[in-house]
Amino acid sequence: MNLKEELQNLRLRVSQQIKQVKTLKELDDIRVEALGKKGPITQVLRGMKDLSATKRPVVGAFANEIRDILAMQIEEKKQTLERQALNDALAQETLDVTLPGKKVKRGIRHILSQIQEEIEDIFLSMGYKIVEGYEVESDHYNFERMNLPKSHPARDMQDTFYISEEILLRTHTSPVQARVMEKHDFTKGGLRMISPGRVFRRDTDDATHSHQFHQIEGLVIDKGITMGDLKGTLEFVIKKIFGEKRQIRLRPSFFPFTEPSVEVDVSCFKCEGKGCNICKYTGWIEILGAGMVHPKVLKMSGIDPKVYAGFAFGLGQERIAMLRFSINDIRYFYTNDMRFLRQFARL
Ligand code: DAH
Repeated sequence: MNLKEELQNLRLRVSQQIKQVKTLKELDDIRVEALGKKGPITQVLRGMKDLSATKRPVVGAFANEIRDILAMQIEEKKQTLERQALNDALAQETLDVTLPGKKVKRGIRHILSQIQEEIEDIFLSMGYKIVEGYEVESDHYNFERMNLPKSHPARDMQDTFYISEEILLRTHTSPVQARVMEKHDFTKGGLRMISPGRVFRRDTDDATHSHQFHQIEGLVIDKGITMGDLKGTLEFVIKKIFGEKRQIRLRPSFFPFTEPSVEVDVSCFKCEGKGCNICKYTGWIEILGAGMVHPKVLKMSGIDPKVYAGFAFGLGQERIAMLRFSINDIRYFYTNDMRFLRQFARL
């Protein structure tokens, strides 16, 4: 058998082996055996020096050709095997879409936000607009414009955090009254607004005091507004919040920005007025402060008290929530204990 035939046979045999091979490992063994340093083709190429000068290039070219063909077949087979391996792996990797996912715990609205939204809805239904004020306020709006001049003793009850002598954290939502009044265009009609928000006092925190809390301010200004409007409005709102069976009672009080001023009580919703620990055995619970806007306050905001009159009120959101849900410590609202907050999940 001459060299050429030997190479031809080798090619047929190796090609056959390549076809039958099942794994990459086997394929690599074949490659090493057929094309490696000790393989038959390398042997032939090495033995070329013994050939005659005429035969040498012919045999060399043929051997190279066989080597290239086999190398190509091996490469093709390698790719086929690799693709198969990948397909097999993918087939193994099944995704079970019925597996239950990780449950995401759904949050709830903070109880104070819920109360605020509820009260906003009541006032929106009566045509009030909702106005946002500034938590960082000036002495001018927080006190002066509310008829609390620098020397006024009522300032003592509303000490606060000062950013400068003139700039402070507001002690109540009342300054929003002045800001809204001075901007309102009365040629387009009267003014009806509420303004919920955070207020600050230099108080030491305990069960009933907090250095931050929330109020809702209310203000109505128009021609011919009377105390009757104030009473009717508050009665309507308080019944919506505490139940239709409730009654309200106005007691004379004092606020520098209203004249006359009143303290508004609601008949006790726990004992129906018979007397219990919530109403301190009086049958009534104090719920908010209110009054007819002081003529001086109107004047300072550019409103003529001879033409316009109005009423205002201010309520504490925490107080409403504490009464309604018998919460005995104001600090629960701010310490973010989920055991407390989750009780108010809307069902
Ligand atoms: N600003 C008062 C406070 O923080 C609450 C208040 C009372 C507001 C009477 C009013 C009002 O508008 O008429 O204690």
